Amino acid sequence: MGYSVEEIEKLLYKYMPTSKGYQQDVTAAMNYAFSAGGKRIRPIMMKMCYDMFVDLSGDYDEEIIAPFMAAIEMIHTYSLIHDDLPALDNDELRRGKPTVHVKFGEDIAILAGDGLLNYAYETCAGVFDKRPADTGVEKAFLVMARKPGIYGMIGGQTLDVVLSGKPVDERELDFIYRNKTSALIECSMMVGAYLAGADEETVKRLEEAAGCVGMAFQVQDDILDIIGQEEKLGKPIHSDEKNDKYTYATIHGIDASKAYVREMSGRADDIIKSLDVKNEKAKEELINLINSLIDRDR
Ligand code: IPE
Ligand code: IPE
Ligand code: MG
Ligand code: MG
Ligand code: MG
Repeated sequence: MGYSVEEIEKLLYKYMPTSKGYQQDVTAAMNYAFSAGGKRIRPIMMKMCYDMFVDLSGDYDEEIIAPFMAAIEMIHTYSLIHDDLPALDNDELRRGKPTVHVKFGEDIAILAGDGLLNYAYETCAGVFDKRPADTGVEKAFLVMARKPGIYGMIGGQTLDVVLSGKPVDERELDFIYRNKTSALIECSMMVGAYLAGADEETVKRLEEAAGCVGMAFQVQDDILDIIGQEEKLGKPIHSDEKNDKYTYATIHGIDASKAYVREMSGRADDIIKSLDVKNEKAKEELINLINSLIDRDR
C-alpha cells in the first residue's frame, strides 16, 4: 500500500552528509540515528499530500518535495535524540539500537541533534534556488520553521518535561500532545500540500486533520508504552512510568485510549475525504495509512 519504506529511504539518504573531516564525529552520529530505521511516516505523509494536490502530468517534481521530506525526518530524528537524553527521558534504546548518547556520549548526542536541525534547513532551503518567487515554497519553509519550534514541538516538549511527575489536567495534556507530536505531523502534511500549490483554505483543513492524526498517534504511543513489546517497538516500554509521566493512557485506561485513537483517526478521515483533490488515489492511500496506524504495534 502506498510507498514502501525502502523507496522513501532511498530518497532521504541522498541528502545526508558524508562523514569526513574534523567534524566526522558529529556527522557519524547524525547518520547513525538517521539510518537506524523508523517508520518514516512524516516524509511518507508529506509525499502523499504532495501527490494529492499536484498536477501529476505537469508540475510534479521530485527534486522539490524530496529535500523537504529529508528535512522533516532530520528534524524528527533530532527530536528523538534529544528526547532520549539523560536530562529528558533518559532512554537507552531507540529504533532497535543504543541511543546516540549511549553510543557516542552525551556531548556528541547534543551536537548531533543540533546538527540535524540546522542541516534540515540547509537541505530544504536549496529549493529556493530551483523555484525562486514560488509562494508555495515560501509558505512551506515558514511552516518548517514554525511547527518544530516554540509554538510547536519544542513548546510541547517543554510542558512535557516541566510537568514530569506532576498530575496534568486535560488542557495541559491536550497542549502537550498537540505540540510535541501533532505539530510535526501537521508540518509534514501542510508542507506537502503547499509545495503542490494547494490553497490556504485546503491547507487549513488538512492541518486540522493532521492534528487529529497526531493526537491518535501519541495516544497509541502511550498505549504501547504500557502494553507494547520492546523488541517490536525498538525502544523501551514503561519509559513514561519510569519518568512519572501522566499520559492519556495512564489517566483514562487502555480501553478508553483505544477508543480515542479510533475516534481521532475517524475525524481525520472525514476531513480528508471531504477535500477536493487532484488525485483520488493519493487520498485513498493517505486514508489507508492513517487507518493502519490505529492498531500499530511499533
Ligand atoms: C516517536 O515517533 C515519537 C512520537 C512522537 C511518539 P515515531 O513512532 O514516528 O518514531 P520512528 O520514527 O518510527 O522511530
Ligand atoms: C516524544 O514523546 C515526542 C517527541 C517530540 C520526541 P515520547 O517521549 O513519548 O516519545 P517516545 O516514546 O520516547 O518515542
Ligand atoms: Mg518524551
Ligand atoms: Mg521519550
Ligand atoms: Mg512515548
